[in-house]
Order: sequence, then structure tokens, then C-alpha cells
Amino acid sequence: MKKSQLSSCVFLLVLTFSFSVSLATSSFLDDTQDSKDFISCVLSDSTNVTSVSRLIFTRVNASFLPIWQAAVQNTRFLKRSTPKPSVIVTPVDESLIQTTLYCAKKCGYEFRIRSGGHDFEGLSYSADVPFVMLDLTNMRSVHVDVANRTAWVQAGAVLGDLYYSISQKTDTLYFPGGVCPTVGLGGYMSGGGYGNLLRKYGTAGDYIVDARIMNVDGNILDRKSMGEDLFWAIRGGKYFTEKLSCVCCNPKSG
Ligand SMILES: *[C@@H]1O[C@H](CO)[C@@H](O)[C@H](O)[C@H]1NC(C)=O
Ligand SMILES: *[C@@H]1O[C@H](CO)[C@@H](O)[C@H](O)[C@H]1NC(C)=O
Ligand SMILES: *[C@@H]1O[C@H](CO)[C@@H](O)[C@H](O)[C@H]1NC(C)=O
Repeated sequence: MKKSQLSSCVFLLVLTFSFSVSLATSSFLDDTQDSKDFISCVLSDSTNVTSVSRLIFTRVNASFLPIWQAAVQNTRFLKRSTPKPSVIVTPVDESLIQTTLYCAKKCGYEFRIRSGGHDFEGLSYSADVPFVMLDLTNMRSVHVDVANRTAWVQAGAVLGDLYYSISQKTDTLYFPGGVCPTVGLGGYMSGGGYGNLLRKYGTAGDYIVDARIMNVDGNILDRKSMGEDLFWAIRGGKYFTEKLSCVCCNPKSG
């Protein structure tokens, strides 16, 4: 049977733009106190404190390091001296991301977002300033609509999640993504999306028909409300020319 292509992929991208925070009052933050302030800020804004406190980790929590290490693909960063987040937040929905953004700004933290796939440069899990890491690993749902030939994918899913979900629903559709199943959708799609169907079908970014992103104020925008320029930029428009050089899949590093 000739396979036809999943002609479009709607893509939920929880992409929050980085912003710099002024450290005007203190040049060196008392990290423990600040992370306490951050956590009480998040909890005071939550309707269910029990469920939200299970999603927030600081260095006192035994699972802090394993969670941080889980998606450190480049082993040169796996050392004590690598700067780590003050707090890791692992949201299951958008409201905790909004709260995290608000409280990070309030407590003087910068923000790093990790989809959980391949980040060999360490930009999503390390920084030279105090920061909160938003780990999107719990936000990885994939909803395939075979009749409409579209799928909504959350930014924490990896390419393997997408391919598997499509194959569970249909054997006549596919999506032109990358070779490596452990690459994260968030970084892959926002970097343009280079894969081995490129010559015939173009990049994954060419098949994104809508996206939901969150801006620095916590507002969620879709294609219509963000406008075509930003929609172009988040599908690799900004990076594509620089990023074509490295496509790697090293099974040993995972
Ligand atoms: C709060 O979350 C916990 C853990 O997920 C759950 O067991 C509990 O029922 C929730 N409470 C309310 C009031 O929703
Ligand atoms: C982290 O440790 C604090 C202090 O012991 C505790 O209150 C909190 O529930 C722990 N968080 C998680 C996610 O285990
Ligand atoms: C099909 O997908 C498009 C693109 O997101 C959407 O606008 C449209 O509402 C979908 N149609 C159905 C029937 O779900």
C-alpha cells in the first residue's frame, strides 16, 4: 500500500521566551532563601498544594539530581561543577507554567526550558545565573486525528512518541521528522526539523499548521494571535541556516 503523508502537524509548543532579570539589589543571591520564596509563591497561587508540591524539586529532594541528569545527553556536563538549576518544575499543565513564570520573575530567577530530548550544548539545563528549569517531560501527549490528517503534540514528547502514536492509529500516514526517536519535539520543531525525508518533503517545520506558545506574560497564543512572522520564526525560521550542520544520534549517550 502506498503511504500517504500526514500532511500537517499541529504542534503544541510551550515555548516561553527567555528574559533577563535584573539582579539590582544583590549581586549574589541567597539561593536557599530564594528557592523557598519561589516555592511559597508557586504554592500560594495553586488550588491544590498537595498535587503541585509533587512537581517541584530543589537540591534537598533526593530526586533532584536524577531528574536533572535524565536528559543530560552530553556527558561533559555530568559533573559536580556544572551549574544546576535552583529549582526544577515539572508541570503537567499550562497553569503551572504560568505560575512558574510569574514566580521566577518575582524572585529574580532566569528561566530555562527543557523538552527532554537532545541538548548537547546544555543550554536548557545549565546557566551561569540562578535559574528555574522547566522540565516538560510530563507534557508529552500526542493526539492524532486520522480523518483530518493532523496531530496535536506537546513539546515534551519525543519523535518516537509521535511515530508510535501515528502507527497505533493508521498505517497510511506518517510525519516527515528526524531519524532519532529520542529527539524532543520542542527543540526539533522550533529548530526547523531536519530529517531523512527532507529532499522529498522538506522540513518538519513545513508541516506545522498551528502552534500554541506561551509568551513571557503567561499569555497563550496560537497561529492567529501570534501572527505569521512569529509563526515563521518558531518553526526554524530564525535558526535554520545556522543549524543544518549537526544531526546526530548516538544511542550510547542516552
Ligand atoms: C489534590 O491532589 C491530590 C494529589 O493529586 C489528590 O489526591 C487530591 O484529591 C486533590 N485535592 C483536591 C481538593 O482536588
Ligand atoms: C522536597 O523536599 C521538601 C522538604 O523536605 C518536601 O517538603 C517536598 O515535598 C519534596 N518534594 C518532592 C517533590 O518530593
Ligand atoms: C483540522 O485541523 C485544522 C488545523 O488545525 C483545524 O483548523 C480544523 O478545525 C480541524 N478539523 C477538524 C474537523 O477537526
